[in-house]
Amino acid sequence: MRREDAGQATRLGPDPSHGGQPGGDPATLDIRGLSIVYRSSLGGVAAVNGVDLVLRPGEVVGLAGESGSGKSTLAYGIVRLLRPPAVITAGSVLYTGRRTQGSTIDITKSSAQELRELRWREIAIVFQSAMNALNPVLRIREQLLDGLYAHTDIRPDEALSRIGDLVDLVGIPRNRLKSYPHELSGGMRQRVMIAMALVLRPEVIIMDEPTTALDVVLQRDILSEIAQLQEQLGFSILFITHDMSVLLAVSSRLAIMYAGRLIEVGSSVAIRSTPAHPYTRGLLGCFPPLRGPKRPLTWISGSPPDLRHPQPGCPYMPRCPQATAKCSDVDMRLRPTSPDDAGHSSACPFAIGNSDTFPCEQTHRASPS
Ligand SMILES: Nc1ncnc2c1ncn2[C@@H]1O[C@H](COP(=O)(O)OP(=O)(O)O)[C@@H](O)[C@H]1O
Ligand SMILES: [Mg+2]
Repeated sequence: MRREDAGQATRLGPDPSHGGQPGGDPATLDIRGLSIVYRSSLGGVAAVNGVDLVLRPGEVVGLAGESGSGKSTLAYGIVRLLRPPAVITAGSVLYTGRRTQGSTIDITKSSAQELRELRWREIAIVFQSAMNALNPVLRIREQLLDGLYAHTDIRPDEALSRIGDLVDLVGIPRNRLKSYPHELSGGMRQRVMIAMALVLRPEVIIMDEPTTALDVVLQRDILSEIAQLQEQLGFSILFITHDMSVLLAVSSRLAIMYAGRLIEVGSSVAIRSTPAHPYTRGLLGCFPPLRGPKRPLTWISGSPPDLRHPQPGCPYMPRCPQATAKCSDVDMRLRPTSPDDAGHSSACPFAIGNSDTFPCEQTHRASPS
C-alpha cells in the first residue's frame, strides 16, 4: 500500500522505549527502518533503505553523505513531502513533542489534516533552494505573518511583535521587513527562510543544505546564528550537508549515509577521532578541518552505486580500499563499534574492535600533517 495515502489513526501510547535515553525523555523523532523507493518502469530506486535514526529533545544531529546518497529523500520522507514516484515502502517516523501531550504520532500513518497541523508547527524545514522559494510579490513582513495567521489565532499586534523579535534573532534589520525578496541578498533571504521556519516555534527543524548556496563567510555567520538560536530556543535540528567540516562544527551527533543506508552513527567527537567505516574516513579526508592544523586532503575514487541495481553486501565495496571478498556477504546492520560506546555504531563489521583489520587505515585517517 502506498503510505502517502494511508491516513490511518496515528497516535500511539506513550512509550519511553521510543529511542529515548534509558529512563529519560522519549526521542522527539524516532525513525525506524524507513525505506523509500522512487518507482519507475525501469525498476525502483531504493533511495532510503532501512534507516534507523533518533533525534532527542534539543539535540543537533548532522546527516552527511555524497550527493545522491538519499539525504533529501529522507528529509522529505520524514515530513511526508515526497512527491510521486517516491513511496515510503517500510518503516515508521515516530514523533513525540510538547503539543502531542505525551503521546507519540507515527507520521507515516498521519492523515492529510494531521500532517498540516504537524508541518511548520511541530517540524519545520529549511531547504537548500528555499531562499528562491519566497513569494516575489509579497513583502517579507506579509510572508512571515501569513505563516503565523495560517496556523494560529494570534492577535495582529502580538503577531507583529513576534515577527519583529524573530528578525532581530536571525540578524535581519527590522526595516527590511518591508522589503521584497529581490531587494535582499542571498544570505538575507536564507535568514528569512530560517525565520519562517522558526515563526511557529517548532520542536524540530530539518535543515537540508541550508548554507551550501552561500559563500563561506556568510555560511560561517549563519551557522553560528543557527547554533545560538538553537541554544536559546531549545529546538532539535537535523542538519544535512555533504560538508563534513560544517557538520563537525555544528552537530553533537553524526549519521553518515551512503547509497540510501546509514553506515555509521556516533557522537561528533567519536566520529572525528575514531571513524569506524572506511567511507566515513574517506569523507573526513575530503574536507579541510575548520579548526586545528592543516592537513593534506584526500579523495574517494569512483562514484556511488546505481541504486536501481543494488549489489549484495556492502554498497561501498567497489570503492573501498580495504574491501575483501567477505564484504559481499556483509549484513548492513549498524553494530556498536566498541563495548564502551554503545552510541557509536558502524555497518562495517571488519572495523569493529580490531584496528589491525585495516592495514591502510593511517593513509585514510585525517591526520595532522
Ligand atoms: N524523482 C526521482 N526519480 C527517481 N530517482 C530519484 C528522484 N529524485 C531522486 N532520485 C534518486 O534518489 C537518490 C537519492 O537522491 P537525494 O535524496 O536527492 O540524495 P542527496 O540529497 O543525498 O543528494 C539518487 O540516486 C537520485 O538519483
Ligand atoms: Mg539533497
